[in-house]
Amino acid sequence: MPRDIEALVAQMTLEEKAGLCSGQDFWHTKGVSRLGIPGVMVCDGPHGLRKQDQTGDHLGLNDSIQAVCFPTACATASSFDRDLLRALGEALGDACQAEDVAVVLGPAVNIKRSPLCGRNFEYFSEDPYLAGELAAAHIHGVQSRGVGASIKHFAANNQEYHRLTCSAQIDERTLREIYLPAFETAVKREQPWTVMCSYNLINGVYASQDPWLLTALLRDEWGFEGFVMSDWGAVDDRAAALAAGLELEMPGTYGHSADAQIVRAVREGRLSEKVLDRAVARLLRIIFRYTDNRRAAVFDKDAQHALATQMARESAVLLRNRDRALPLTENARVAFIGEFAQKPRFQGGGSSHINAHRISSALDAAAGLPGVCYAPGFPADKDEANPQWVAQAVALAKESQAAVIFAGLPDIFESEGYDRQHMRLPDCQVALIRAVAAVQPRTIVVLHNGSPVEMPWAQDVSAILEMYLAGQGVGQAAVDLLFGRANPCGKLAESFPLRLADNPSYLNFPGDGDRVEYREGVFVGYRYYDAKEMAVAFPFGHGLSYTTYRYGNLRFDKQTLSATETLTVQVDVTNTGAVAGKETVQLYVADHTGAAVRPPKELKGFVKLSLAPGETKTATFTLDERAFAWYHTGLRAWRCAAGAYEVLIGASSRDIRLTGHVTLDTPPLPLRVDTNTRVETVLNHPLLAGVAQEYRDHAFPPDEREKTDVAKAAINEEMEHRTALEAPLRSARSFGQLTDEELQAGIDRFNRLLQGE
Ligand code: BGC
Repeated sequence: MPRDIEALVAQMTLEEKAGLCSGQDFWHTKGVSRLGIPGVMVCDGPHGLRKQDQTGDHLGLNDSIQAVCFPTACATASSFDRDLLRALGEALGDACQAEDVAVVLGPAVNIKRSPLCGRNFEYFSEDPYLAGELAAAHIHGVQSRGVGASIKHFAANNQEYHRLTCSAQIDERTLREIYLPAFETAVKREQPWTVMCSYNLINGVYASQDPWLLTALLRDEWGFEGFVMSDWGAVDDRAAALAAGLELEMPGTYGHSADAQIVRAVREGRLSEKVLDRAVARLLRIIFRYTDNRRAAVFDKDAQHALATQMARESAVLLRNRDRALPLTENARVAFIGEFAQKPRFQGGGSSHINAHRISSALDAAAGLPGVCYAPGFPADKDEANPQWVAQAVALAKESQAAVIFAGLPDIFESEGYDRQHMRLPDCQVALIRAVAAVQPRTIVVLHNGSPVEMPWAQDVSAILEMYLAGQGVGQAAVDLLFGRANPCGKLAESFPLRLADNPSYLNFPGDGDRVEYREGVFVGYRYYDAKEMAVAFPFGHGLSYTTYRYGNLRFDKQTLSATETLTVQVDVTNTGAVAGKETVQLYVADHTGAAVRPPKELKGFVKLSLAPGETKTATFTLDERAFAWYHTGLRAWRCAAGAYEVLIGASSRDIRLTGHVTLDTPPLPLRVDTNTRVETVLNHPLLAGVAQEYRDHAFPPDEREKTDVAKAAINEEMEHRTALEAPLRSARSFGQLTDEELQAGIDRFNRLLQGE
């Protein structure tokens, strides 16, 4: 029988209700035993379960239980694989049920604005569509197991610098188009049980107490039904936060300040008790959704380890493969160089840090390969060259058939809590890569990093395999890929600029003190590099394979569509090589209507196909109005202009294989004409063009436009026409022959026509 939540709330005292709105401790909500209300546990993820005991701390200093460390989001995003993210969510959900955890904190979907953000390894992408799709799949998986997800950090937490006090200054269009859609997709599609607000302020208001963000947008517009919890320590004014729509403050304040603030605010009439009751009801609904539906689950760590390894294999991105340097043959004499081969870096520091139950290093995984030998080359944990190690590594590389350098960022270079200072690998690693490449033409670099690095040495090596922070199965996955037991199929979920200074946020990251201006607007990542026609090291969506794919037969179910219709796009892809592989087919939309300043193209669909050699499959995409739209700040609504669009099908954002055209037949924007409306607007408007031309001929009679040759040279007819289009209607008074009365009559007539009269 469903519980009567309202009746339960009615039995609670003011103190009990206020108490429920903050944690019992670091990881539990409070229970009210006299009413049978249990406390439940929430735990970090999101790429594994970090269950700590009572002495827990969110910086990962204390131990948590052993769990399986899956690849972090920077890696899993490169899989472009919704099924894989769903499987991760299911595994997390099982672990939570087995360990009695009601909510796992994640996924984290903040947009990668700058490669320097210390937490980029926890985030999916620079692209909101991709981040939203993957987050939704992750949440679906978790919640299918009767456990809640907590999508975070809502919103615009794109840097660690001053993360608790800094205001992200972002215009509404940019928020709507770049920083909010991943949350929007996940909330509308999957109803995460909880949303975690971010630490920062947005345009001067703490996210934790922003009524627009937490109520108007999240609940009224998107229909969110769960509860909002704070990031750990994000609340400034508890009563204001509750009124804005923040139900749960975490961690607990041990019954003191937070609860007392709420009680006082209610008693003093500053906070309606109804608001508190509503918050408590929201909390209880989720708490009981968990406790009333407990299910038996097994946390099978060995099975999950296999999944973690599979995910690492399917997420790795082959960035470069000159002369088919990869794959290596199993009996080749290969030098493994770099301490990461022995001590891989597979996750980042901070609240997401998992106590991995098993770790597979590349050296362990290569144990059965007779030709593999090892030299440490450089330390994994610091930037410190060791001349003896270098000499030994170079000698080993020289006498081998290939050298594989396991490079990456030491832990200290990127973490939750602070941003990176630069985008380089440690100098000792760069020097070693160059030294080895100078003696060994088949030099391969395997990268372990949570965010792009500059690679001035890229052309000197034969191959680059980006593993990212690939979880506890990283070593096995890398060896499987290097030796061709598996075929790389990851694609970059972010652009790799040639240098940090190329990044669009460069001049405004991380801001000055307590404000960071998002001046690049919607031009984030590839949206900027494409608009500027800039070379990049590796573009968004890029990733090579040991096989090749042919794209063909692009078709649409219609050439013209209205705002309420959908467009079905299909394309056939054939595996033209000798090995099986998976290809992510990407769909981008380009707006050619000229109605708004827009990026040259934006990702609006992707399909990952698994193809045997010679096999052909069809990728099918469905596009709705939103796929063509931009956010119109005047209307405060999504809007797509009528006119021409291109649909681009690519193997990456810079490897477009096929292009098709489609026309949108949408109603024109609402318009009211006045003296400052431009001539062009009325002349080009389908309802007004005829009358506009009449007025034009009257104001500027064609026979009086006759000109001498000298005058024509100064401004000929075409030049005059183009100049006139720019003018406001009132110019017909100053430069033409319209009286004030005639001008006003014309304007009235236009407005009547627009009203359909
Ligand atoms: C992080 C969150 C995390 C929480 C609990 C915070 O510092 O920003 O992502 O879930 O701590 O550990």
